[in-house]
Amino acid sequence: MRKRFLKESLSGVSEVWWEIPGHLDVRNNRLYIANTDAEKLAQEHGTPLYVYNGDRIVENFSRIKEAFAASGAKPRIHFAMKANSHLAVLQLLLKQGAWIDAVSVDEVKIALKAGFPRERILFTGTSVSNSELKQLAELSVKINIDSFSQMERMKQLSFKGEASIRWNPGEGAGHHEHTITAGKFIKFGIPEHRIEEAFRKAKAFGFKVGGLHQHIGSGWLGKDVEVFLETVDKTIAVAEKAQEILGKKFEFIDFGGGPGIPYSKDQKQFPLEKYAKGIVGKMEQHGMRAEIAIEPGRYIVGDAGVFLTEVNTVEEKNIPVIGTNSGFNHLVRPAFYGSHHEIIVCGNVGGREKGEFMVAGNLCETSDVFNETKQELRELPIPKEGDILAILNAGAYGYVMASNYNSRPKPACVMLLNGKAHLVSKRETLEDLVRLESEVG
Ligand SMILES: Cc1ncc(COP(=O)(O)O)c(C=O)c1O
Repeated sequence: MRKRFLKESLSGVSEVWWEIPGHLDVRNNRLYIANTDAEKLAQEHGTPLYVYNGDRIVENFSRIKEAFAASGAKPRIHFAMKANSHLAVLQLLLKQGAWIDAVSVDEVKIALKAGFPRERILFTGTSVSNSELKQLAELSVKINIDSFSQMERMKQLSFKGEASIRWNPGEGAGHHEHTITAGKFIKFGIPEHRIEEAFRKAKAFGFKVGGLHQHIGSGWLGKDVEVFLETVDKTIAVAEKAQEILGKKFEFIDFGGGPGIPYSKDQKQFPLEKYAKGIVGKMEQHGMRAEIAIEPGRYIVGDAGVFLTEVNTVEEKNIPVIGTNSGFNHLVRPAFYGSHHEIIVCGNVGGREKGEFMVAGNLCETSDVFNETKQELRELPIPKEGDILAILNAGAYGYVMASNYNSRPKPACVMLLNGKAHLVSKRETLEDLVRLESEVG
């Protein structure tokens, strides 16, 4: 059986470009996450399983702080909790001095539950309802205004809280078309030709507007940093104009999130120094004294998360297929964005006997594959049924985008912190799947 998958030319031990000492290591041909054998974690907690390395999350957060500190700045680092909203992750970041970027009322409530003070939470919603606006006003968090409609309704609701305005700086970037949030054909923010009008209106309404916000998209790397820095320049220029209109200085300018992480070996690390230096430099060039705010999500949690799934079947169909015990219901990025995630055979990382496989899920859907596309097969050491596969870089937009499609419960999540494994989210059960339902008759 094993021989049938063998490739003509064996490339030998796999390249482990993704190794991060102390976080992802290969020892005796086995994968270790935070010095813990990945297969052992799967045995102890079951699969499918999300594993987050809390120490890596802290490291990633600290790296951002340090990059800005090197340029003499101390930004508000709003963690974009849409990337990973586990209470345990939020609490870890709270201790590191994070702020919060929340995009729904319940995200705000979860952040408060995690212990974030309301002053550290910025709500950036889109298509926000009156009922949500009322709740946000009661919760006393800052509201980042996305539309004239929202502003008018905030006036009708006699909004007295703090606000800022999100604009669309005209250019966007992201790892996929779906994640670009500025430029043409984009629903977010106030467009360039109406931004001054927005500030005049906010002033006329008597709103306490303390800042300007942009977010150009998610998961940009390499040359996109230049695009981002151009928008930073434009945003600061608009902030200068807005200060004139409002007749007061801004408290902060928020440049949004988006710094990417390498998902495949051809992608480079995010140039954090260039990014931090670029923002700080442009603020200085303009003589802008407002505080810098940023909203990274993926950069903080993305590479800290590993998704473990078990091999159910290994078979030569019309193509060689590895069938796993999970699917796009648990990690949708490959099916949704065609994203690349490294897949590792945990107990035989560098196995020499390799094959090319479709790594598929257990859902009744053709798109249910963990390869970028169903046509691009993945070279892997030939696994056995029962082996554990690790899907790397699953800490951002993984569990938060999971669903119960095909009536399958969501996986458990474990956080490794200071040498200990903590269950931070239990595995769902059948009872959870039907909890909100009732029978008729
Ligand atoms: C308003 C806002 N801020 C921040 C982010 C975080 O993006 P990322 O996780 O790429 O840093 C997002 C995600 O798209 C967002 O919509």
